[in-house]
Amino acid sequence: MSNTTRGLFISFEGIDGAGKSTHIDGLAQAFEARGRQVTLTREPGGTLLAESLRQLVLNQPMDALTEALLVFAARRDHLKLVIEPALARGDVVLCDRFTDATFAYQGGGRGFDGHILSTLEKWVQDTPQGLCEPDLTLWFVLDPEVAAQRLSQARVPDRFESQPVDFFRLVHEGYRQRCESAPHRFIEIAAHRSREEVWASVMSSLVQRGVLT
Ligand code: TYD
Repeated sequence: MSNTTRGLFISFEGIDGAGKSTHIDGLAQAFEARGRQVTLTREPGGTLLAESLRQLVLNQPMDALTEALLVFAARRDHLKLVIEPALARGDVVLCDRFTDATFAYQGGGRGFDGHILSTLEKWVQDTPQGLCEPDLTLWFVLDPEVAAQRLSQARVPDRFESQPVDFFRLVHEGYRQRCESAPHRFIEIAAHRSREEVWASVMSSLVQRGVLT
Protein backbone atom coordinates (compact mmCIF):
# COMPACT_ATOMS: atom_id res chain seq x y z
CA MET A 1 0.00 0.00 0.00
CA SER A 2 1.67 3.25 -1.06
CA ASN A 3 0.15 5.82 1.28
CA THR A 4 3.01 7.87 2.75
CA THR A 5 1.10 9.04 5.84
CA ARG A 6 0.35 5.55 6.98
CA GLY A 7 2.13 3.85 9.90
CA LEU A 8 4.46 0.91 9.73
CA PHE A 9 3.30 -2.69 9.38
CA ILE A 10 5.68 -5.45 10.51
CA SER A 11 4.78 -9.14 10.57
CA PHE A 12 6.61 -12.01 12.28
CA GLU A 13 6.77 -15.45 10.76
CA GLY A 14 8.37 -18.85 11.18
CA ILE A 15 7.51 -22.46 11.87
CA ASP A 16 6.10 -23.35 15.30
CA GLY A 17 8.93 -23.42 17.83
CA ALA A 18 11.09 -20.86 15.99
CA GLY A 19 10.81 -18.54 19.03
CA LYS A 20 9.45 -15.29 17.59
CA SER A 21 7.08 -14.33 20.46
CA THR A 22 9.49 -12.86 23.02
CA HIS A 23 11.07 -10.71 20.32
CA ILE A 24 7.71 -9.27 19.29
CA ASP A 25 7.12 -8.08 22.86
CA GLY A 26 10.65 -6.69 23.02
CA LEU A 27 10.14 -4.76 19.80
CA ALA A 28 6.86 -3.30 21.01
CA GLN A 29 8.77 -1.89 24.00
CA ALA A 30 11.59 -0.65 21.76
CA PHE A 31 9.18 1.28 19.51
CA GLU A 32 7.27 2.67 22.50
CA ALA A 33 10.51 3.81 24.11
CA ARG A 34 11.11 5.83 20.95
CA GLY A 35 7.72 7.53 21.25
CA ARG A 36 5.79 5.42 18.73
CA GLN A 37 2.24 4.20 19.30
CA VAL A 38 2.24 0.40 18.90
CA THR A 39 -0.61 -1.93 18.00
CA LEU A 40 0.42 -5.44 19.01
CA THR A 41 -1.73 -8.13 17.48
CA ARG A 42 -1.77 -11.64 16.03
CA GLU A 43 -3.30 -13.93 13.41
CA PRO A 44 -5.52 -15.77 13.28
CA GLY A 45 -7.06 -13.35 15.79
CA GLY A 46 -6.88 -9.74 16.86
CA THR A 47 -10.67 -9.15 17.03
CA LEU A 48 -13.50 -10.84 18.88
CA LEU A 49 -14.69 -12.62 15.75
CA ALA A 50 -11.20 -13.53 14.54
CA GLU A 51 -10.23 -14.92 17.97
CA SER A 52 -13.33 -17.17 17.80
CA LEU A 53 -12.26 -18.34 14.36
CA ARG A 54 -8.75 -18.96 15.74
CA GLN A 55 -10.17 -21.38 18.31
CA LEU A 56 -11.87 -23.32 15.51
CA VAL A 57 -8.89 -23.34 13.16
CA LEU A 58 -6.48 -24.45 15.89
CA ASN A 59 -8.72 -27.10 17.41
CA GLN A 60 -11.40 -28.46 15.06
CA PRO A 61 -10.74 -30.96 12.28
CA MET A 62 -11.59 -29.46 8.85
CA ASP A 63 -10.56 -29.72 5.23
CA ALA A 64 -7.94 -27.49 3.65
CA LEU A 65 -10.37 -25.17 1.84
CA THR A 66 -12.42 -24.58 5.01
CA GLU A 67 -9.19 -23.84 6.85
CA ALA A 68 -8.05 -21.35 4.19
CA LEU A 69 -11.44 -19.63 4.11
CA LEU A 70 -11.54 -19.29 7.89
CA VAL A 71 -8.05 -17.79 8.18
CA PHE A 72 -8.88 -15.29 5.43
CA ALA A 73 -12.27 -14.48 7.02
CA ALA A 74 -10.46 -13.81 10.31
CA ARG A 75 -7.92 -11.68 8.41
CA ARG A 76 -10.61 -9.59 6.75
CA ASP A 77 -12.20 -8.73 10.10
CA HIS A 78 -8.77 -8.03 11.62
CA LEU A 79 -7.77 -5.74 8.75
CA LYS A 80 -11.00 -3.76 8.81
CA LEU A 81 -11.33 -3.39 12.58
CA VAL A 82 -7.74 -3.22 13.77
CA ILE A 83 -4.90 -3.10 11.23
CA GLU A 84 -6.14 -0.54 8.71
CA PRO A 85 -7.38 1.94 11.38
CA ALA A 86 -4.08 1.57 13.28
CA LEU A 87 -2.03 2.22 10.13
CA ALA A 88 -4.24 5.21 9.29
CA ARG A 89 -3.46 6.64 12.77
CA GLY A 90 0.26 6.21 12.09
CA ASP A 91 0.82 3.34 14.54
CA VAL A 92 3.50 0.71 14.31
CA VAL A 93 1.52 -2.51 13.82
CA LEU A 94 3.37 -5.60 15.04
CA CYS A 95 1.50 -8.67 13.90
CA ASP A 96 2.38 -12.20 15.02
CA ARG A 97 1.85 -13.96 11.64
CA PHE A 98 -0.03 -12.72 8.60
CA THR A 99 -0.72 -13.94 5.05
CA ASP A 100 2.73 -15.50 4.57
CA ALA A 101 1.63 -18.03 7.22
CA THR A 102 -1.34 -18.98 5.06
CA PHE A 103 0.91 -19.60 2.05
CA ALA A 104 3.34 -21.54 4.27
CA TYR A 105 0.87 -23.61 6.34
CA GLN A 106 -2.18 -24.02 4.09
CA GLY A 107 -0.18 -23.78 0.84
CA GLY A 108 3.11 -25.50 1.77
CA GLY A 109 2.09 -27.67 4.72
CA ARG A 110 -1.37 -28.76 3.58
CA GLY A 111 -0.56 -28.55 -0.14
CA PHE A 112 -3.54 -26.31 -0.85
CA ASP A 113 -3.76 -24.54 -4.24
CA GLY A 114 -1.57 -21.40 -4.26
CA HIS A 115 -3.63 -19.75 -7.01
CA ILE A 116 -6.75 -19.90 -4.88
CA LEU A 117 -4.77 -18.45 -1.95
CA SER A 118 -3.56 -15.62 -4.19
CA THR A 119 -7.14 -14.89 -5.25
CA LEU A 120 -8.29 -14.84 -1.63
CA GLU A 121 -5.36 -12.61 -0.75
CA LYS A 122 -6.50 -10.05 -3.35
CA TRP A 123 -10.15 -10.24 -2.30
CA VAL A 124 -9.37 -9.82 1.38
CA GLN A 125 -6.47 -7.37 1.32
CA ASP A 126 -7.28 -5.11 -1.61
CA THR A 127 -7.73 -1.41 -0.80
CA PRO A 128 -7.99 1.70 -3.03
CA GLN A 129 -4.24 2.19 -2.34
CA GLY A 130 -3.32 -1.38 -3.31
CA LEU A 131 -2.80 -4.62 -1.41
CA CYS A 132 -2.60 -4.09 2.36
CA GLU A 133 0.44 -6.15 3.35
CA PRO A 134 3.38 -5.82 5.73
CA ASP A 135 6.13 -3.32 4.96
CA LEU A 136 8.56 -5.73 6.58
CA THR A 137 8.41 -9.37 7.56
CA LEU A 138 10.83 -10.86 10.06
CA TRP A 139 11.14 -14.53 9.20
CA PHE A 140 12.61 -16.58 12.05
CA VAL A 141 14.38 -19.43 10.28
CA LEU A 142 14.97 -22.63 12.24
CA ASP A 143 15.66 -26.22 11.24
CA PRO A 144 12.34 -28.13 11.63
CA GLU A 145 14.11 -30.87 13.67
CA VAL A 146 15.33 -28.32 16.20
CA ALA A 147 11.92 -26.61 16.30
CA ALA A 148 10.23 -29.98 16.96
CA GLN A 149 12.60 -30.61 19.84
CA ARG A 150 11.83 -27.19 21.33
CA LEU A 151 8.08 -27.78 20.93
CA SER A 152 8.18 -31.17 22.62
CA GLN A 153 9.07 -29.36 25.84
CA ALA A 154 6.15 -26.96 25.46
CA ARG A 155 2.43 -27.04 26.39
CA VAL A 156 -0.33 -29.21 24.87
CA PRO A 157 0.09 -28.98 21.06
CA ASP A 158 -2.65 -27.56 18.80
CA ARG A 159 -3.64 -28.96 15.35
CA PHE A 160 -0.51 -27.51 13.75
CA GLU A 161 2.02 -28.04 16.54
CA SER A 162 1.11 -31.74 16.63
CA GLN A 163 2.09 -32.23 12.95
CA PRO A 164 5.16 -34.35 12.11
CA VAL A 165 8.52 -32.80 11.21
CA ASP A 166 7.87 -33.43 7.49
CA PHE A 167 4.88 -31.07 7.64
CA PHE A 168 7.16 -28.31 8.96
CA ARG A 169 9.69 -28.97 6.22
CA LEU A 170 6.89 -28.19 3.75
CA VAL A 171 5.85 -25.13 5.76
CA HIS A 172 9.48 -23.97 5.69
CA GLU A 173 9.54 -24.40 1.89
CA GLY A 174 6.30 -22.37 1.70
CA TYR A 175 8.00 -19.55 3.59
CA ARG A 176 11.09 -19.84 1.39
CA GLN A 177 8.97 -19.37 -1.75
CA ARG A 178 7.14 -16.37 -0.30
CA CYS A 179 10.49 -14.87 0.72
CA GLU A 180 11.86 -15.34 -2.79
CA SER A 181 8.79 -13.70 -4.31
CA ALA A 182 9.08 -10.61 -2.06
CA PRO A 183 12.76 -10.20 -1.10
CA HIS A 184 12.35 -6.42 -0.49
CA ARG A 185 10.00 -7.15 2.40
CA PHE A 186 11.57 -10.21 4.06
CA ILE A 187 14.31 -10.14 6.68
CA GLU A 188 15.69 -13.57 7.54
CA ILE A 189 16.62 -14.07 11.18
CA ALA A 190 18.73 -17.14 11.98
CA ALA A 191 16.82 -18.48 14.99
CA HIS A 192 19.08 -21.37 16.10
CA ARG A 193 21.23 -18.98 18.19
CA SER A 194 20.77 -17.85 21.79
CA ARG A 195 17.85 -15.54 22.58
CA GLU A 196 20.29 -12.63 23.12
CA GLU A 197 21.98 -13.17 19.77
CA VAL A 198 18.64 -13.43 17.97
CA TRP A 199 17.45 -10.23 19.68
CA ALA A 200 20.62 -8.39 18.65
CA SER A 201 20.06 -9.44 15.07
CA VAL A 202 16.37 -8.40 15.15
CA MET A 203 17.39 -4.94 16.38
CA SER A 204 20.29 -4.47 13.98
CA SER A 205 18.24 -5.54 10.97
CA LEU A 206 15.58 -2.94 11.77
CA VAL A 207 18.20 -0.25 12.37
CA GLN A 208 19.73 -1.16 9.02
CA ARG A 209 16.33 -0.74 7.33
CA GLY A 210 15.99 2.69 8.96
CA VAL A 211 12.84 1.90 10.97
CA LEU A 212 14.59 1.99 14.39
CA THR A 213 17.35 4.27 15.65
P1 TYD B 1 1.13 -19.35 16.78
O1 TYD B 1 1.23 -18.07 16.02
O2 TYD B 1 2.32 -20.20 16.75
O3 TYD B 1 0.64 -18.96 18.21
P2 TYD B 1 1.05 -19.67 19.58
O4 TYD B 1 2.43 -19.17 19.85
O5 TYD B 1 -0.01 -19.17 20.52
O6 TYD B 1 0.97 -21.15 19.33
O7 TYD B 1 -0.13 -20.26 16.34
C1 TYD B 1 -0.91 -20.04 15.27
C2 TYD B 1 -0.97 -21.28 14.43
O8 TYD B 1 -1.82 -21.02 13.32
C3 TYD B 1 0.39 -21.67 13.85
O9 TYD B 1 0.57 -23.06 14.00
C4 TYD B 1 0.26 -21.37 12.37
C5 TYD B 1 -1.22 -21.40 12.11
N1 TYD B 1 -1.64 -20.49 11.04
C6 TYD B 1 -2.07 -21.02 9.83
O10 TYD B 1 -2.07 -22.23 9.65
N2 TYD B 1 -2.47 -20.18 8.84
C7 TYD B 1 -2.47 -18.82 8.99
O11 TYD B 1 -2.84 -18.08 8.05
C8 TYD B 1 -2.04 -18.29 10.25
C9 TYD B 1 -2.03 -16.80 10.45
C10 TYD B 1 -1.62 -19.16 11.25
